[in-house]
This record gives sequence, structure tokens and C-alpha cells, in this order.
Amino acid sequence: MSLDIVIMAAGKGTRMKSRHPKVLHKLAGRALLSHVVQTCAGLGAERILVITGHGADRVEAATQASFPQLPLAFVRQEPQLGTGHAVQQAEPQLADEGTTLILNGDVPLIRAETAQALIDACGGKQLALLTIELHDPTGYGRIVRSGDGHGGHVVGIVEHKDATPAQRQIREVYTGMMAAPTALLRKWLARLDNNNAQGEYYLTDVVAMAKRDQVPVVATHAASEIEVLGVNSPLQLADLERRYQRHQAETLMEQGVRLADPARFDLRGELLAGQDVEIDVNNVFEGRVELGDNVRVGPNCVIKNARIGSGTVIQAFTHIEGDAAGVDVGASAIIGPFARLRPGAVLGNEVHIGNFVEVKNSTLAHGAKANHLAYLGDATVGERVNYGAGSITANYDGANKHRTVIGNDVHVGSNCVLIAPITVGDGATIGGGSTVSKEVPAGHLCVARAKQISLAGWQRPQKKK
Ligand code: UD1
Ligand code: MG
Repeated sequence: MSLDIVIMAAGKGTRMKSRHPKVLHKLAGRALLSHVVQTCAGLGAERILVITGHGADRVEAATQASFPQLPLAFVRQEPQLGTGHAVQQAEPQLADEGTTLILNGDVPLIRAETAQALIDACGGKQLALLTIELHDPTGYGRIVRSGDGHGGHVVGIVEHKDATPAQRQIREVYTGMMAAPTALLRKWLARLDNNNAQGEYYLTDVVAMAKRDQVPVVATHAASEIEVLGVNSPLQLADLERRYQRHQAETLMEQGVRLADPARFDLRGELLAGQDVEIDVNNVFEGRVELGDNVRVGPNCVIKNARIGSGTVIQAFTHIEGDAAGVDVGASAIIGPFARLRPGAVLGNEVHIGNFVEVKNSTLAHGAKANHLAYLGDATVGERVNYGAGSITANYDGANKHRTVIGNDVHVGSNCVLIAPITVGDGATIGGGSTVSKEVPAGHLCVARAKQISLAGWQRPQKKK
């Protein structure tokens, strides 16, 4: 049976007080709307129709770029005359029959299982509403049931602004998500009017129409509040972010990851952790990060797109910023404190990268060390190399980048400049303070600096009286 999904994302988001469209604001590092679309990806929909309005150009461009594989289409709603009007815009593109699932672009954490339960409850025959009981239902549409209200059939949804004082006591609310038989939905949409407190076309009026047409209306309950919470203000965005981070932290801890403090943990992407991983406070993980067994991460690190081998220690204030290809760190390495690994850093086992050392587009083989104040860019560094404090590869001539190749067991003294392109052979030694611009053969000592002179009896200048 055919499934269409409509995601409403045309609203202004006035309370965000932002120049940016609301649904592009980020939760856990990705746009609110992207969370919803990602969830839809697993539902096997024929079409995913996103209703856009405010900031439509930007919303469409950003969303399309994030999901090139999905059957996504955008439908403009100008002006925005309510949720019913929003779905009316998508109506010509819906299938003739089957089920239409309606979601909100600003309710990011709806789970695929919950959406699927809603689709199943509809089954192309019944109107299925996602509802939840809220302690404070202010502002939400209330689920009106027949009889004494409890366990009776759903007969309608009444918006907060249109509700009587008695109806405002109802704590079961409509979450803004429903699944409807497409052919019936089409018929109901054509009948909507805007005779209500807000002068809008309410999608929720279809419930009373279903009742009149003797189509069963069923309510599916959301498992947790987090999946139905919408974002309308910076406060709500931050609140949902914390709840989501807490949820992710708990999931990791259930897998055995030891977080020093789940309240000071941020995952903006995916974290795969082995056994006995310890993560100290205030770390931010982005993109896709893999931590092997026994990895320890000190406090205040930012780690993006990286694979960290088992037993490696990432010390405090380290910044790892991999691109899509990811930074690789081998096993039993020591990185930091205050280290910076940039795109293209590939470090072998037992490599040490110390404070204020920057590594970019460089490979360091087993046991190589750069412990203090150094730069390695576009370099290939052999095994057991010791790269001295303050040394740099001068990889950029102002127009092009060039490589530095350092063999195994090379000792680079402190404060050296290796002017690329250059090769340093196995076992060579470079004296401290050298500026090296020619090949250094294997096993040689290279000293490339002004010869030291010492003058006896030197008198320092005296201050004039
Ligand atoms: C809606 C429901 C309410 C429910 C609540 C849950 C209606 C009439 N009411 O109310 O029962 O409890 O959601 O959060 O549906 N949008 C458009 N175009 C429009 C208007 C809205 O695309 O013309 C989009 C908004 O961007 C938003 C969603 O639809 O993503 C919901 O709209 P909103 O104005 O927030 O509806 P509520 O008044 O909160
Ligand atoms: Mg709302």
C-alpha cells in the first residue's frame, strides 16, 4: 500500500526571533527538519513532501543537499493560512489511495517506530492520531472523547484557543502528527473552513469529519515526551537539546561507556565505542567517531570524524577535526594535551602528539613522536622519528603545497624548518635550529645554520649618562 509523507515546515517561527528559518536551527548539530527527514528515510515512502514557506529557498536547498537519495519534493505554501491549508497544498501530489503520514518539521525527535505504529494504525482505512498525556497541556489541541472522556472514542480535536474551560482540563493532546487514508483525506481537505478563533484552516478539523463519515478515529500514544516536543523558542530548543543529549548519554552508558558526567556530554553525530571507554567532562563529539577498547578521553576535547585505536589516550583540550575521510589514530597513542589533528592526519600505533602540535594531511608511522610546539603539514614521517620542539614543515611556497618525507629513526632537533619538497633519509639527524632545503642522505648529520662564533672579552654597550 502506498505511503506518502507530508512534513509541514512553512511556519515562521516568530518566537525564535531569528533571521534563519526555524526548521534550519540545529539540534545535536543537525537541522530540526533534517532529523525528521532522516527518520522518514526508513519508512519506505513513495514521496516525502515538505511544505515550505518562510525561508523556503534556504530550507529547500539545505534539505535537498542533505538527502540526495530520498524521494523528496517541496511544495510552497504562500501565504500560510494554517495546518489544513498547508496539507491542501500537497494534496495534488498525493497518491490516489494508501496512507498519508503528516509530520511537523519542528518536532525533530519523532522515532521511526512511533511513526510506523501510526501508519499501521491507519492501515489506509482509519484516521490515526498521535497523542500524549501532558502535565501541562496549555497551547495544544485537546483530544475530545465521547462519554466521560476516558477510554471513549475520539470525536474531535479542539484547539486551545477554541476550547471551553472544561475542555482545557483535558490532558490528552494532539501531537500534530497523524496518519490518514489518502482518498478520505483528500475529500476532507476540500471541506475545511476557517471559522475559528485564529481564522486558520485547521487540519485537526478532519477528525470531526471522519466521525461524521463514520470512519474510525484511533489514538496511538507516543512512548515518551521527547519525541513529540516541538521547538518554538531558543529556550525550548536548548531544553530539547539537553534532553536529547541526556538520552544519548544514557544509551552509551548502558553499553558500558563510562561518562564522568552525562550532563556535560555532547554528541552531534554518531559515537561507536568499544569496551572500557572513559570519557571525561565537557567533550563534544561530531560527525562519526569511533573509539576502540580502553580509549580514554580527557576533559574539554572536540573530536570530529575520527577513528581512535584501542588503548589510546586523548588528553585534555585536544581538537581533532577530521573531514569526511576521517582522522585516524592508531592504538596506544598519546595525543595532547592541547593537540590539534586536522584533516588527513593518519597516526600509527604508539604515536605521541604533544601540546601545541598541529598535524595536517600527514602520516606518522609507528612510534613517531612530536611532543611540543610543532607543525607537520603534508608530511610522511617514518617509524620512531623524534620531531623536535618548535620544528615545522614549510609546506607552502605561496602558491602550492609540497611534501616532506622523513625516513625511519630520524631525529629532527628543536626549532628546525624543513622546506618542502624535501626528503630526509633513514637514521639522519638534523641539528637544532637548522633550515633545511636540500635532501639529507640516510645516516647523515645535517646542520644548516650560521656557524657559532664566540668573541672573548666582549663589552656590552653602556647606557649614555
Ligand atoms: C498544531 C495543532 C494542535 C497540536 C499542535 C502540536 C492544528 C490546527 N493544531 O497547533 O492541535 O496540539 O500542533 O504541536 O493543526 N505550519 C505550516 N503552515 C501553516 C501553519 C503551520 O507549514 O500555515 C507548520 C508549522 O511550521 C509547524 C506545524 O505546521 O511546523 C504546526 O503549526 P503550528 O502553528 O505550530 O500549530 P499549532 O498552533 O502549534
Ligand atoms: Mg506549534
